[in-house]
Amino acid sequence: MASTDPVEPISQALRWAIARAIGCDVSDPRTDPVIRASASAQFGDFQANFAMALAKSTGSKPRDLATTVAAAAAAACEPFAEPLEVAGPGFINIRLKSAALASALGAMDSPALGVATTGTGHTVAVDLCGVNVAKQMHVGHLRATIIGDTIARIHERLGWATFRQNHLGDWGLPIAMVLDRVRSQGTNLEALTLDDLNSAYRAAQSAGRGDDAGLTAARAAQSGPHRLAELELQCADANAALESAKRTLVALQSGNADLVRDWRKLIDVTMREVYETAKTLGVHLPPESERGESFFRDKLQPAIQAFVDAKLAQRDQGALVVRFPDRERPLLIQKSDGAALYATTDLAAIRYRIQDLGAERVIYCVDARQRDHFRDAFDAVRMIGWTRLAKPDGSIVDVELVHVPFGSVLGADRKPLKTRSGENFTLKALLDEACARGRREVHARAAEATSPTHGWPTAELDATGDAVGIAAIKYADLSADVTRDYIFDLDRMVAFDGDTGPYLQYAAARIGSIIQRSGLDAAAYAHAPFPAQCPEERTLALALLRHGSAIEQAASEAAPSRLCQHLYALAVAFNGFYQACPVLKAEPESLRLGRLRLCDLTRRTLADGLGLLGITIPARM
Ligand code: ARG
Repeated sequence: MASTDPVEPISQALRWAIARAIGCDVSDPRTDPVIRASASAQFGDFQANFAMALAKSTGSKPRDLATTVAAAAAAACEPFAEPLEVAGPGFINIRLKSAALASALGAMDSPALGVATTGTGHTVAVDLCGVNVAKQMHVGHLRATIIGDTIARIHERLGWATFRQNHLGDWGLPIAMVLDRVRSQGTNLEALTLDDLNSAYRAAQSAGRGDDAGLTAARAAQSGPHRLAELELQCADANAALESAKRTLVALQSGNADLVRDWRKLIDVTMREVYETAKTLGVHLPPESERGESFFRDKLQPAIQAFVDAKLAQRDQGALVVRFPDRERPLLIQKSDGAALYATTDLAAIRYRIQDLGAERVIYCVDARQRDHFRDAFDAVRMIGWTRLAKPDGSIVDVELVHVPFGSVLGADRKPLKTRSGENFTLKALLDEACARGRREVHARAAEATSPTHGWPTAELDATGDAVGIAAIKYADLSADVTRDYIFDLDRMVAFDGDTGPYLQYAAARIGSIIQRSGLDAAAYAHAPFPAQCPEERTLALALLRHGSAIEQAASEAAPSRLCQHLYALAVAFNGFYQACPVLKAEPESLRLGRLRLCDLTRRTLADGLGLLGITIPARM
């Protein structure tokens, strides 16, 4: 909870009173007062709803319990709230005092914006992006990249030491196949584009495919590219292309300089486009995030050995598996030919993130189809004890492993998104379309004589249009529960009304222009008392004061949507305020300055939150 939130002391007071009433300690979870925002102003700003459930378990009447608690908490709440009111079957209505709201806003009005740096001294690793070398990025990578970046930014904002980890698919048979292909075709690697590579990848895949039932089943189960490639290896007959690729893989793995040099080029071609896309998306993906599968190549055998030594790995027809007490499916960590697998790499990667990076939280932004994979990998490292982390201060923490299993992006037909010609949408094509759409929208608005952008130079309008297009798709992606599939609908996403990225950008830009029109600089209103008299001012104040706890919640749940909901509520509250309360024409002057200060705090809070989503605010819209 942010320190500036006035609900905090009230919640504490109720907790004490509940503990006293039922005779337990305040650390008892039953003392949670269950405070929720009120659905309607007539019930105050908040309601404490604990009494109904608690009375049942203590055998008292909810209303009696609520009355006892309200009386016991009255004195402690008095500085912050109007007298507590028991209502209905046993709700306690809480209405904050205007003075308490105003002073809480005053405390929030600092560069920290009421966000407590609760993450200081803690470390998180965020697995994001996860593209595969020689393959075009597709919309799934859009999600893995922007969800991961936002979660990383949110942790950074709270003071966590944050490591972005791009678990690049840059090792193993699929790469050897494409490497073999471009080399045998005499391709000029200097002039290669990712498109060329992508075609080579496909050609290599079909050349090396010894199709049979196993593969068909794997496709039906929609396994990831790595699992598919692994199966392809298992199922293939003595297929010449495949045999050659295997030889290339062995040579690459033993460090053949020629191969390593060409392999590095394939990575460069791939990453050049990834970094360009990251830049377009406003995603922070520094080169040191690159921790691909190849990075772990020397850590695979030690990981396998550790499981053997701990007697957690069993032989199964020559292969090594880890079994779990609660399910049939074992985790395969070494094939019968001695080779490691995708899962082995993840075991080594988790160990690295905990033991080398010191992460006490590791968050995986990877699509939902890999749910079982992560469940198995997480349980395996818990069993072997790698999740017990000794901190520099000697304490031991239990590392939190989190998979954020995001859903798919669908077309209007509810099937995976395709272009009109039936191709998979590359990420680049998608972003181009979004920017074109944003530009169209922005140019159309600028054509109206009353628009603040009327007469603006084309270059500025284009740049604004791009920012709008990118904000539109990013916000649409982040604002819903990420585990759900969603339909890619640009019309809805770029709308300037409703719960969209452009709406929030517009709200922030508009506040900027209100302040500009006042002709005053911040020093003029920096000390004006915050107004919290009219209902709309109060609603806005309450939305602002949630900023710290919304960011905290988004981090602890690894749910960017929590932040989006808060920002949208804030923008809506601002618009309600601006409609009901004049700012530039407000009298007396102290009220005008107080409202300007409220505008400025709102603008900075929106900018802070949008910044965590990697969304920029155009100067005018
Ligand atoms: N490259 C993988 C794929 O496309 C995703 C990597 C996800 N991260 C991980 N640590 N496994 O399926």
